[in-house]
Amino acid sequence: MGASKKGKIVMENIKDKVVVITGASSGLGEAAAKILAKHGAKVVLAARRRDRLKKLAKEIEAEGGVALACEADVTDKKQVEKTAAAAVEKFGRIDVLVNNAGLMALSPLSSGKTDEWDRMIDINLKGVLYGIAAVWPVFEKQNSGHFINISSVAGLKVSAPGNSVYSATKFAVRALSEGLRVESAGKFRVTTILPGYVESELKYGTSDEKTRDAVVGAYAKYEIPASSVGEAIAYAISQPDGTAINEIVLRPTSQEF
Ligand SMILES: NC(=O)c1ccc[n+]([C@@H]2O[C@H](COP(=O)([O-])OP(=O)(O)OC[C@H]3O[C@@H](n4cnc5c(N)ncnc54)[C@H](OP(=O)(O)O)[C@@H]3O)[C@@H](O)[C@H]2O)c1
Repeated sequence: MGASKKGKIVMENIKDKVVVITGASSGLGEAAAKILAKHGAKVVLAARRRDRLKKLAKEIEAEGGVALACEADVTDKKQVEKTAAAAVEKFGRIDVLVNNAGLMALSPLSSGKTDEWDRMIDINLKGVLYGIAAVWPVFEKQNSGHFINISSVAGLKVSAPGNSVYSATKFAVRALSEGLRVESAGKFRVTTILPGYVESELKYGTSDEKTRDAVVGAYAKYEIPASSVGEAIAYAISQPDGTAINEIVLRPTSQEF
């Protein structure tokens, strides 16, 4: 970090970086996009809700930033590849991939909601894998790059009943990040972010009404703004190239879990 002419603290090493963010249409991804664009990053916004992405891109551009909206479903590897290709076509490179798209469809294992379990595995785990596969060759060519994977405190602890499958996907993201770090050591930076209760649409993800009511109640009690995670992402990117922030755990101060 350094001081600008006006004495304001500015984050270095973000300006002009091309940052692809999945799940940029709401919550953490949207907040990260706004913060990174303010620091001069060129943000590539990926998610399924095109109207939201277009609106966000316009907002960022109105503030003097640079953004590209890419409609993509991360469960479809071709769409993820297309997003990476669009980023390279428009900006010539990709410096950072933020694997953020996610679903939290909590329910007890006894509920047998296998369709929602499939969706969580497809989005939270396979979506991350497709992101890695799509961007790795670009990083390889550049001999540089930064993977930022969004896990959760649910990737550190299991709260049952309810969290088991979501936690399994977030433990998996953490395991994958460690593998990524070891395999790419010396070339690419790898950061895993593990947030606690953060304000977003995530809390509405389950069709299990009893669980949803409990989750929404807990979020109302604890949640901190989505910008808190956006700032953590900015911090990781802003480090000098030789420094990799590997894990950041952040929770509301009042959160015990
Ligand atoms: N909020 C929290 O308390 C918290 C805590 C720990 C970890 N996290 C993690 O943070 C990440 C972001 O979640 P959030 O809290 O910001 O929730 P959110 O507001 O529900 O955002 C989820 C994002 O993922 C996108 N998405 C979902 N399915 C997708 C798909 N198939 N293809 C592409 N994009 C998809 C959604 O966009 P579309 O619907 O437009 O596709 C949306 O932009 C998730 O990985 C979540 O597990 C959140």
